[in-house]
Amino acid sequence: MASLFTSFLLTLCLFVIPSLSSDPDPLQDFCVGDLGASPSINGFPCKPSVSASDFFFSGLGGPLNTSNPNGATVAPANVLTFPGLNTLGVSMNSVEFAPGGVNPPHSHPRATEAGVVIEGSVFVGFLTTNNTLFSKVINAGEMFVVPRGLVHFQWNVGTGKARLITAFNSQLPGVVVLPSTLFGSVPEIPNAVLTKAFRTDDATVNNLKSKFAV
Ligand code: GLV
Ligand code: MN
Repeated sequence: MASLFTSFLLTLCLFVIPSLSSDPDPLQDFCVGDLGASPSINGFPCKPSVSASDFFFSGLGGPLNTSNPNGATVAPANVLTFPGLNTLGVSMNSVEFAPGGVNPPHSHPRATEAGVVIEGSVFVGFLTTNNTLFSKVINAGEMFVVPRGLVHFQWNVGTGKARLITAFNSQLPGVVVLPSTLFGSVPEIPNAVLTKAFRTDDATVNNLKSKFAV
């Protein structure tokens, strides 16, 4: 009986501990990613020599071009654009919105997101796994959080442009953008799946696919 209980506890630890963790802790001061090398099991091998410029990144300053169907653009500072982040477990984005612009519903499988509005007025929302929407309009200087993996979006409800800075507890949070994942995948999800899932017809699904085709 006791050994059954011990095995149960061990199994519980195996499942629970990884689900509480984020990127692994570093084992050295830094390990600037060598993006030319193949990624190893978790991240990139270290560059053999580094300089100060490996630890600075100027890609979040903007202004960003928001002339696209969403009226919003994301500039990422993750390990792929800023290899100095390799093994450090953090990354950031700058997001800019034209008036009415939307950062469409998406989720980050590997990170919790924290954000701050730098400019404008933004309707920020996330959805729980039981489809409850938590949302609020926030303004410059106000902050929000999105728990790891949950679907969320932002919408510029002000009259001018809006800007956010977001931060993640992963060097590469990953992003699943629902509209393009569902309607712009390669190869395509069969219409039979999408018409049934969305309780709609082929014409509607084809129309949506035509907007997200790559
Ligand atoms: C905003 O949701 C972002 O992912 O930067
Ligand atoms: Mn996000």
